[in-house]
Amino acid sequence: MTALREGAGRILIGERLLPQTGDKCRTLGLRGRCAIISDSNVAQHFAACVSKSLVSSGFRPILITIRAGEKSKTLEQAGAICDRMIAAGFDRQSFVVGLGGGMTGDLSGFVAAIYHRGIPHIQIPTTLLAMVDSSIGGKTGVDTRAGKNLIGAFHQPSLVINDVDVLKTLPPRQFNQGFAEIIKHAVIADAKMFRILQSWDASSSLASGSLALQSLIKRNIQIKSRIVAKDERDRTGQRALLNFGHTVGHAIERAGNYRKFLHGEAVSLGIVAACAISVKRAGLRPDQRAAIVDLLERFELPTRLPPKFPRKKIFDAIRFDKKFEGGKVRFVVTPRIGTARITNDVTLNDIREAMKQL
Ligand SMILES: NC(=O)c1ccc[n+]([C@@H]2O[C@H](COP(=O)([O-])OP(=O)(O)OC[C@H]3O[C@@H](n4cnc5c(N)ncnc54)[C@H](O)[C@@H]3O)[C@@H](O)[C@H]2O)c1
Ligand SMILES: [Zn+2]
Repeated sequence: MTALREGAGRILIGERLLPQTGDKCRTLGLRGRCAIISDSNVAQHFAACVSKSLVSSGFRPILITIRAGEKSKTLEQAGAICDRMIAAGFDRQSFVVGLGGGMTGDLSGFVAAIYHRGIPHIQIPTTLLAMVDSSIGGKTGVDTRAGKNLIGAFHQPSLVINDVDVLKTLPPRQFNQGFAEIIKHAVIADAKMFRILQSWDASSSLASGSLALQSLIKRNIQIKSRIVAKDERDRTGQRALLNFGHTVGHAIERAGNYRKFLHGEAVSLGIVAACAISVKRAGLRPDQRAAIVDLLERFELPTRLPPKFPRKKIFDAIRFDKKFEGGKVRFVVTPRIGTARITNDVTLNDIREAMKQL
């Protein structure tokens, strides 16, 4: 097991960690009641194990299971969870254990941020995306009808428990989408990791005891943490580097009504577009662009849009989402694999041209 100290909390990475949840909470000094918040898919696999571990360490957990899927990440759901915690007599000493993917982590973290103005949040990510991305950086929140993550709070988890064993039940498409964020991290910050990924044996990465996977997760946590540490509250622009591939990616998600593509899949397409813009505006070498596209394809991520996809809607979504000042938009580009910067001179036309490559 590896332990990292990032920001305010601790991050554990290893195998067979779920049965140690109670122990780890005790070590943190937690004493009060706790709510395990999980979704309907994840709870059936892992809630009993986590609950048993908490009970054997002397806690009295309650389990709150919500319906799986992004539709549950709402203010109403957060309110309903708080009501259950109030009814169960939870106070300021109580804490929340978020057991699930990014949806559960964002929602449970938001509940922890607002309950009694903030109680400890323990996160147990169960998707690769949640391990390498959403559990790091302290952003919590819910969606509204007008858009995703519009209401939220910064609230760092006190502890994140990454047990790679839980990934064995993850459907392959969900597993692969985590690699879109991993490849993004490599492109913006870690050329060596990019090379590791080029020779990654995808078929063995989930074999039990895969130390390579653990070390990959650790490396990604460190990359994201390092970038976040420079800009905790997302104010100075440093954190924006993490949005590489996301301007077009978000627009594709929106254009597909959040049904056609998973987030990571849309980001994969967004990375392809960002690379085309990087060739034009930042001097990215075409062979490096090709290597990035190849790598995305290795992990079965999409790099071309289906022929019938409503491309115009993507474009409309970008215009809706972004401020074009003097016809130009802030955009993250990569001049070379392993580096990224923000530029202010990408035009609508650059984006239009880049979309033709999708
Ligand atoms: N806070 C942040 O910084 C941040 C960053 C990126 C993404 N996010 C958020 O993360 C969410 C996406 O995360 P996600 O892709 O993990 O989604 P998710 O939590 O909806 O999980 C995806 C699916 O996998 C299922 N699942 C999860 N773990 C499983 C397991 N071990 N075995 C079997 N099934 C399992 C879930 O039930 C769900 O159906 C979005 O809400 C997004 O806004 C937040
Ligand atoms: Zn993302």
